[in-house]
Amino acid sequence: MTSTLNTADTHHAPDEPMPLDEVDLADNDKFLDGVTPWRMFHTLRHQDPVHWQPEPEPNHGFWAVTRHEDIARVGRDAQTFTSTKFVNLEELDDDQIKKRASILELDGLRHRAMRSLLQRQFGQGVINEYADFLRGLTARTLDTALAKGTFDFVADVSADFPINVLARLLDVPPEDNQQLIDWGNRIIGNTDPDYADVLLHSEESEQYKDLPFRSPASLEVFEYGRELVRQRRGGTGTDLISRLVNQTPRDGVPLSAQDFDNYFLLLVVAGNETTRHTISHSMLALIQHPEQLTRLQEDPSLIPVAVEEFLRWATPVYHFRRTATRDVELGGKQVKEGDKVVMWYASGNRDEEVFGNPYDFDVTRRHNDHLTFGKGGPHLCLGNLLARTEIRIMFEELIPRLAGIRLAGDVPRVRSNFVNGIKKLPVEVTLA
Ligand code: HEM
Repeated sequence: MTSTLNTADTHHAPDEPMPLDEVDLADNDKFLDGVTPWRMFHTLRHQDPVHWQPEPEPNHGFWAVTRHEDIARVGRDAQTFTSTKFVNLEELDDDQIKKRASILELDGLRHRAMRSLLQRQFGQGVINEYADFLRGLTARTLDTALAKGTFDFVADVSADFPINVLARLLDVPPEDNQQLIDWGNRIIGNTDPDYADVLLHSEESEQYKDLPFRSPASLEVFEYGRELVRQRRGGTGTDLISRLVNQTPRDGVPLSAQDFDNYFLLLVVAGNETTRHTISHSMLALIQHPEQLTRLQEDPSLIPVAVEEFLRWATPVYHFRRTATRDVELGGKQVKEGDKVVMWYASGNRDEEVFGNPYDFDVTRRHNDHLTFGKGGPHLCLGNLLARTEIRIMFEELIPRLAGIRLAGDVPRVRSNFVNGIKKLPVEVTLA
């Protein structure tokens, strides 16, 4: 097995803790090197686990919740920590919330009704029905990429696979894949100048303030989704679009055009970036920890266990936000009604109270109670079983094909304190 480390960073126990007064979770630039975020989280967990983080105007700051136990408490208690005021850091007025809300921003009955429209489609039973399709797709993606010898693992493997799965779930032609990937990049990458048409914090973004992620690309996604609705309304299709437009939620209130737009856009952006970055981070970790790759090569039956460690290690979504509905004490701090409360899943996934040697990447780790999909609350990731299955099948197919893999260039990160993303992962492989 050849494996040479070059310029890419890995997550490790901070050699030197970052001084508390240098921590700034609101600064997207601090998330560019793949190391500083973990130093900030370490300091916060140890010195100020529920920390008041000021933000530049027009925002008002937020509570950064960094311990596993407190994150789980916030995620579970939707009455005290509501999603209905928005779940990203941006602060929206009531009118914007009304226009932009997806199921992420609903609580209670309506949330359950909207979620249950697709719940079965994301259950293990339905996923098992297309496991063979997933395996065939993975094999094709890998054979094409690996035959190149040297290639960008992100473009050729990690990005290609989840989008093909989405295209199948939506029943749209694979020719549309690149378009779907670009939309995801432009929308979720709204703080990265390489991706965004309009940067989230720019003045220009004001004119897009009623659109998801303030991104003009959202309009293109809406138009694409609406065309699919026109084609499928009243039909007998079993794809996700047909299910959304031809079923009535169990609270009896049909989906409005806007409900559909926002649900559809969430499906397009939620599953691709996240799964893609998990696969890239996992590959990078296996390159940087070749003894862990060897373990999986020697005993592939460990891969399902390893998937949970991949998810913990990667944490592709750094955080989601809630808003306090009343004054409440949290980790010794007095949170006031209306305050933003942010669950830093990435930090909870390195919490020493929960994970033995949390900075060790250990593919045999058991009882891996990670927070990567949220924890226990009503918004637990709808696609978690699908993502887990995709990642498992990817590595079940990849690992036996590899004799060696090494980095062949720099590993740039997405400029974002929301998505923990890898833009490029140049690799050189030798085949088994
Ligand atoms: C590794 C991959 C993924 C990660 C890390 C991830 C992460 C998350 C997290 C943390 C939440 C909770 C949001 C909150 O509490 O406010 C969430 C919700 C959600 N995810 Fe995922 N996700 C992944 C893959 C997927 C996939 C593949 C899909 C579907 C195609 C998907 C669809 C959704 C939806 C629809 C919700 C909203 C659920 C609700 O509000 O009830 N996700 N995801």
